[in-house]
Amino acid sequence: MKNVKLKLRHKKDMSYEILIHKGIAKKIPTYLKDNKIGQKYAIITDDFVAKSFGESLKKSIKNKGIKSEIFKFKKGEISKNLSTIEKLATEMVEKGFTRKDAIIALGGGVVGDAAGFLAAIYMRGIPYIHVPTTLMAMVDSSIGGKTGVDLEAGKNLIGTITQPKTVFIDIDYLKNLPEKQIRNGLAEVIKYGAIGDKKLFKFIEQNIGKIFKKDSETLNFIITRSVKNKVAIVKKDEEEKTGFRIFLNYGHTYGHALERMSGYKLLHGYAISIGMVLANDIAVKKGIIKEKVAERIKNLLKKAGLPVTTIKKPAMKDLIGDKKREDEHINFILVKKIGKAVIYKERWK
Ligand SMILES: NC(=O)c1ccc[n+]([C@@H]2O[C@H](COP(=O)([O-])OP(=O)(O)OC[C@H]3O[C@@H](n4cnc5c(N)ncnc54)[C@H](O)[C@@H]3O)[C@@H](O)[C@H]2O)c1
Ligand SMILES: [Zn+2]
Repeated sequence: MKNVKLKLRHKKDMSYEILIHKGIAKKIPTYLKDNKIGQKYAIITDDFVAKSFGESLKKSIKNKGIKSEIFKFKKGEISKNLSTIEKLATEMVEKGFTRKDAIIALGGGVVGDAAGFLAAIYMRGIPYIHVPTTLMAMVDSSIGGKTGVDLEAGKNLIGTITQPKTVFIDIDYLKNLPEKQIRNGLAEVIKYGAIGDKKLFKFIEQNIGKIFKKDSETLNFIITRSVKNKVAIVKKDEEEKTGFRIFLNYGHTYGHALERMSGYKLLHGYAISIGMVLANDIAVKKGIIKEKVAERIKNLLKKAGLPVTTIKKPAMKDLIGDKKREDEHINFILVKKIGKAVIYKERWK
């Protein structure tokens, strides 16, 4: 017998720019012309975003002499599944999309996660760019390369870590974003503040009115600060191996279970808001956080119009679909004080 070793040690530089600027989306056609990420582009989006922004993006790309096609699916978390991926991939094949082409993920986090996943696996992988259109997608889901879809058994259980080529964050997209969706994204911004950025936390406390008025400067500040927080963590632990990335999971252990239990009707940000409060309850019980600090977090979530209670608190057994669990433990991220979090392991069997 002969053993043959296939040595594969190369690691490519996957660094990319996250461009945050009011009006930056107008520069996408020029960017595509200059950077030639693909020969043509599949604009993956949901039915709502297709109508609001997809058609005009397609037109502006065409004006630069570049071909694109829109591929859309029904909006909402309910579409974040494998059959949507299969349907989109089949349509792309039918329209002649090959490995030379690329994807533009235009929309909220559902679109970004699904389109990024499709880019990662379509003909073994093609490049993609993110154009987030919700606050949730701008502050969180478009950064860091996590892609994927849900299974009946739980959220995001199928997926990859595949980085985009560039992210275009343009607050002009937020003009008509419903208040409910602002609150949704704000839950993640409050999360960044609570786990690692006291200044951001205070800023939200003091500027909540301006956020809901969609004041440009205020929105740009919370988005940029959130992106910086996420980048700092992902940089240290891109593949979720060294343990830093798990801190982003504050509120998510309970949150994901709540989403699943609601049949994915409860918005992600709303679910993690309740999840953060439930995590704080554990932290108070274990003496990790002072009750008054837990109250401060709850008060900010309330001020942001987010829910802080549930009639159906997930039991330990409901949490075991979570990817972050270990054989006998579930990992909770608990906030110690504003801007500082710790990992806490709880036995589930
Ligand atoms: N990959 C990651 O790291 C990561 C991080 C956080 C969240 N997520 C995922 O993101 C998803 C949630 O994202 P979301 O809240 O953006 O959901 P979403 O994509 O469903 O968008 C919410 C709704 O807003 C609409 N919409 C989008 N842009 C709009 C605009 N500019 N104006 C008006 N309406 C608009 C959409 O049609 C949709 O109905 C969840 O699946 C969550 O798991 C992923
Ligand atoms: Zn989240």
